[in-house]
Amino acid sequence: MKTAIVTGGAGFIGSHLVDRLVSERMFVVVLDNLCTGSWDNLAHHSEQHVKRVLCNVSDPWPSEDLPTSANLVVHLASPASPIHYRRLAIETLLVNSEGTKNALDAARRYGARFILASTSEAYGDPAVSPQPETYWGHVNPIGPRSCYDESKRFAEALTMEYIRQYDIDARILRFFNCYGPRMQSEDGRVVPNFVRQALSGQPLTIYGNGEQTRSFCYVSDEVEAIWGAATIDGLQGEVINVGNPQERTILNFAEVVADVGGVPLEIESQPLPPDDPTNRCPDITKARKLLCWEPKVGLRDGLEETFAFFRQKAY
Ligand SMILES: NC(=O)c1ccc[n+]([C@@H]2O[C@H](COP(=O)([O-])OP(=O)(O)OC[C@H]3O[C@@H](n4cnc5c(N)ncnc54)[C@H](O)[C@@H]3O)[C@@H](O)[C@H]2O)c1
Repeated sequence: MKTAIVTGGAGFIGSHLVDRLVSERMFVVVLDNLCTGSWDNLAHHSEQHVKRVLCNVSDPWPSEDLPTSANLVVHLASPASPIHYRRLAIETLLVNSEGTKNALDAARRYGARFILASTSEAYGDPAVSPQPETYWGHVNPIGPRSCYDESKRFAEALTMEYIRQYDIDARILRFFNCYGPRMQSEDGRVVPNFVRQALSGQPLTIYGNGEQTRSFCYVSDEVEAIWGAATIDGLQGEVINVGNPQERTILNFAEVVADVGGVPLEIESQPLPPDDPTNRCPDITKARKLLCWEPKVGLRDGLEETFAFFRQKAY
């Protein structure tokens, strides 16, 4: 049986990835400090398939809890929503620097394939749209989002250096907005915000005039791309956007959410936070070519699933 180590595996994307790895008959070791995740997300897995290790991956990893061999290391641990990475700003800088180094060292020790979860935030507030991987970005290095944006950029630079110096088999995925069940309802990201507000009869909060754009990728599509990056040979050093190229304004997204949720559209406007990107749209030419991948789940279908999850939680 093959073994994978997933940092941040108790979180939103991580727990869905663990489901997939287990379904592919892998043994998964999850390292997580639960700062934004929960073991509840993995409650359906037995210890025979998933080993849970409570630790901060920015600190030295507990060798007594690690497997003797591993084929794959996926580094997902990092606060991901602005509310959390502002609250945990220094922890975010550390998990993407020290934590990435620990994950890379583990991959090197095991001779394992390595996947770094990077982000479209590496592009900052982009001056080109859609964003191809060749675009170097437009990032404020000292603003309130820089603890996340810049530390992810550092994580990418460190990963590339481990490839150059130690020849590890690493790949970098830049995730754009991903959504679906197991997102935290209060994490401030637009999908859980809107769905929670729709379910509780509140107006949907829009920051700024709602003309800023985003593109939303359903989590099963995201996991399919990670699985491709984990299993396809010959991708060492590749940096690949993973996201849905269907770009829409936040205002239009609010209309779709209200429609799927069966509620009248009511909007409450709030000021735009500093450095909020004006547009986000992945160029996925590379993902199509290298991973033979593109998103399959339509927005309305993905939102139905997300509503069903939040309804169960009784908002
Ligand atoms: N969800 C998205 O739309 C999106 C977009 C771009 C990038 N990403 C990246 O994908 C990854 C997963 O994001 P997510 O949405 O699942 O977030 P999440 O907050 O649900 O999951 C992150 C997990 O990492 C854990 N974690 C954080 N710091 C840790 C530390 N120091 N030690 C151990 N565990 C730690 C958390 O407890 C949590 O379980 C992150 O690296 C994020 O930057 C996500």
